[in-house]
Amino acid sequence: MLNSADAPTAHAKLNAWIEEIVALTKPAAIHWCDGSQEEYDRLCAEMVEAGTLIKLDEEKRPGSYLACSDPSDVARVENRTFICSEREEDAGPTNNWMAPAQMRETLKGVFDGCMQGRTLYVVPFSMGPLGSPIAHIGVQLTDSAYAVANMKIMTRMGAKVLDVLGLDGAFVPCVHSVGAPLADGQDDVKWPCNAEKYIVHYPDSREIWSFGSGYGGNALLGKKCFALRIASSMAREEGWLAEHMLIVGLESPEGEKTYVAAAFPSACGKTNLAMLIPPEGFDGWKVWTVGDDIAWIKPGDDGKLYAINPEYGYFGVAPGTSDKSNPSAMQSLTKNCIFTNVAHTDDNDIWWEDMSEPPAHVIDWKGNDWTPDSKTPAAHPNARFTAPASQCPTIDPAWEDPKGVPISAFIFGGRLSKTFPLAYQAFDWNHGVYMAATMGSEATAAAEGQAAIRRDPFAMLPFCGYNMGDYWQHWVDFGAKLDNPPEIFRVNWFRKDENGKFMWPGFGQNMRVLKWIVDRVNGKADGAVKSPIGMMPTHDDITWDGLDYAKETFEHLMQVDRAGAMADAEDQSELFGRFGDKLPAEMENQRQAQIKRLNDAPEVWKLPS
Ligand code: GTP
Ligand code: SPV
Ligand code: MN
Repeated sequence: MLNSADAPTAHAKLNAWIEEIVALTKPAAIHWCDGSQEEYDRLCAEMVEAGTLIKLDEEKRPGSYLACSDPSDVARVENRTFICSEREEDAGPTNNWMAPAQMRETLKGVFDGCMQGRTLYVVPFSMGPLGSPIAHIGVQLTDSAYAVANMKIMTRMGAKVLDVLGLDGAFVPCVHSVGAPLADGQDDVKWPCNAEKYIVHYPDSREIWSFGSGYGGNALLGKKCFALRIASSMAREEGWLAEHMLIVGLESPEGEKTYVAAAFPSACGKTNLAMLIPPEGFDGWKVWTVGDDIAWIKPGDDGKLYAINPEYGYFGVAPGTSDKSNPSAMQSLTKNCIFTNVAHTDDNDIWWEDMSEPPAHVIDWKGNDWTPDSKTPAAHPNARFTAPASQCPTIDPAWEDPKGVPISAFIFGGRLSKTFPLAYQAFDWNHGVYMAATMGSEATAAAEGQAAIRRDPFAMLPFCGYNMGDYWQHWVDFGAKLDNPPEIFRVNWFRKDENGKFMWPGFGQNMRVLKWIVDRVNGKADGAVKSPIGMMPTHDDITWDGLDYAKETFEHLMQVDRAGAMADAEDQSELFGRFGDKLPAEMENQRQAQIKRLNDAPEVWKLPS
């Protein structure tokens, strides 16, 4: 049975690799995924039988399932994530590194026999529309049916990918095991995983090896491992960009469409912004969703940048998602979804914090009874939904266009509760690269108030597959080659007042900032004044129709506190210092220019009124 003669492809390299992995991991069976609905239904039925999935009420949530993971396997594991480049300096100070030879030796031991008693699934997948010049193919070998089902939603997966590969097409090999072999007759558990985890990338040979986890970015290897870590390294070599960015199209009442891409760290609102519904006062405006997490961007022949969303679905944070915060996401979740680590309601549906009024009773994600009086959340804070992108009511008609959509602006934002303005624009490309390189976020909701800013350059800290200093240089060089580079902006929806309340209403109201950005890039408005840190919109430059928002609050939001900004600029030297001679000179030049502008600025810089 474990014989390449049975393979549905004559791709020699692919078949030889599979034989090698089979010999190493020793699965009981092999299944080549064709990507059909029948196959998906059968795998899900088997997982229901095994207790891994619960089939939700067919009337309320057709074709949908709930999975609850082992409580130890609920998120990506950054301290177990490795970039194994030949040279340590090519991984850089922000990645874990191990010499490839040493890691290969370690993994040989770890993967030996790790699939015993299980089926090895062969999952050919395309990141990006099949056959698009921007797309790339991967093949994931996994012993997790849960990973297969999720990959079917998150990527274009199955037999049609083998057709594109042909006899000798290039693919990124991705090996994944939950690391829980089954001895003869041993009963399986609902969520097999291993306490020891390895999420390993070899950028030089473009390979991925993941062990021990069945969750999200650890297990769906097309996403963070391929589309960001390996792809960022490919992109540097080949002259393109692989970014942790959403992509949206902003259509004016006149039908003019402007596409922007925006990078925010994990759980900082990419999915919300990607599916924004224009607020009152924006009649005739439409916001179209292209992607909510990853953008692959290549220069076109016309000198513009074109972006695709390499994914096929959304793997979004569930808690906080509601008809109020994100109605389009809620509509995307009405059928054909997998929910992971959310609560199970008494009427066989799902619930999570802030979805609606809490039900009187649910079973929480750990399988315990939960009532509104319970002290712990019903859904894990990193509970996720997996939903087909095509189900999003605002999906852009061009979202599968193989040539991508033209990008006019890049937006960067973190989660900063103090002293950071709502929005401003870089003076030029390199200033924008500096703004993105130094961006940060307050760690998590749990750590809020402790002011510890975690630098998260470009929202790529956990996802850059090579030296972050080289990555900044790549951005500098990339921009220098463009005749008309996109404009770069910084935003922050998260500033709070003395009482800890958000000063900016956020969500749909962020449209007001997006409209200013559209005006700026289309050259329709003067629309900005020079501040010490960038070009800022005045009150008059923002459209306020339909929102009662005090002018003083806006002006307060936009002021630049010199001491705070200076402290930040000084603190950046810690980050920069870590890169030694890999730090692009341009970054330190920009930092010095920022310090000079702040030295010349008043104690509190305010918008002219
Ligand atoms: P990953 O999928 O982890 O990469 O994250 P993401 O960036 O897609 O995160 P997501 O959209 O799920 O972020 C949700 C969090 O951002 C929730 O806590 C929301 O309440 C919060 N959020 C989103 N938009 C806004 C906003 O405009 N204002 C405020 N205050 N919070 C927001
Ligand atoms: C993120 O953490 O940025 C995610 C979720 O998008 S995961 O795919 O699990 O990495
Ligand atoms: Mn993400």
